Amino acid sequence: GSAPPASNWCCRFARAMPVVQRLAKPCKILLKLYMAKKLLVLCMAALMAMAALVAGCGGEQKAAESEKVLKVGVNADFAPFEFQDENGKEYQGFDMDLIRAVGEEMGYKVDINNLNFDGLIPALEAGNIDVCISGMTINEERKQKVNFSDPYYKSGLSIAVAKDNESIKTFEDLKGKKVGVQIATTSAAEVKKIDGVHVKEFDSSADVFMELRAKGVDAIVNDSPVNDYYIMKSGETNVKALPDLLTSEDYGIAVSKKNEELLKEINAALKKLHENGKYDEIFTKWFGTTSK
Ligand code: ARG
Repeated sequence: GSAPPASNWCCRFARAMPVVQRLAKPCKILLKLYMAKKLLVLCMAALMAMAALVAGCGGEQKAAESEKVLKVGVNADFAPFEFQDENGKEYQGFDMDLIRAVGEEMGYKVDINNLNFDGLIPALEAGNIDVCISGMTINEERKQKVNFSDPYYKSGLSIAVAKDNESIKTFEDLKGKKVGVQIATTSAAEVKKIDGVHVKEFDSSADVFMELRAKGVDAIVNDSPVNDYYIMKSGETNVKALPDLLTSEDYGIAVSKKNEELLKEINAALKKLHENGKYDEIFTKWFGTTSK
């Protein structure tokens, strides 16, 4: 009596086997499909992440493109107008604060580039920079090549000599003397007018001061506020600046002749800064007095 159920169970199992076998194939396919789907989901997620990243980058790029940048050329060795802090990173000075304020007024991000002084006008002409602010005197020769903004600072040249020098008191006394100047400056042009002078030209105004300290020259000629600031800041006790100004000069922001629109914007911004007190604030910060 008990065999039939067993055989029955056995038979059922035996009969079921092909079914299992038959089911195995679709199961495997389903499993494969399931895994494929999982892979697909993973791929899609990765793709979406990448797409988001690319879109994000594109967005940033668009923002950067729409942010107007003002490429400014300076020769940052002319304190208190333009110089770099001890680490040689941050640009400081009257000109630097002024051009940042001008840029802000115009809605531009200011990008400062340090160049040799004699390379500034060529860089403007070549379109490598948009403007130049560098204690640059407005004069006829330069006006042939670039446009200048309205004057933003009144300056002039002065002579500096060793403190114990009693022979040089005036411009005429420079005759036959060794005089240090910075290349391509109004100082260089003025000193070259003197008969029998030995002009020594240097790339930077710091090099000019160094030469005076090293007694490689009898005197130097430089912008008077720069001479004064150097003597005050360096604690230099062996150098004195003579009180007389040799010239009267106006500093201007130089702009390429091709960019009349930018020149107008700069003049409008300068006007605004004079009106709203920002110019005076910057002036007082660097010169301790208010501008007239
Ligand atoms: N004012 C003088 C000139 O225009 C000297 C300017 C020098 N500026 C400078 N950043 N090194 O020739």
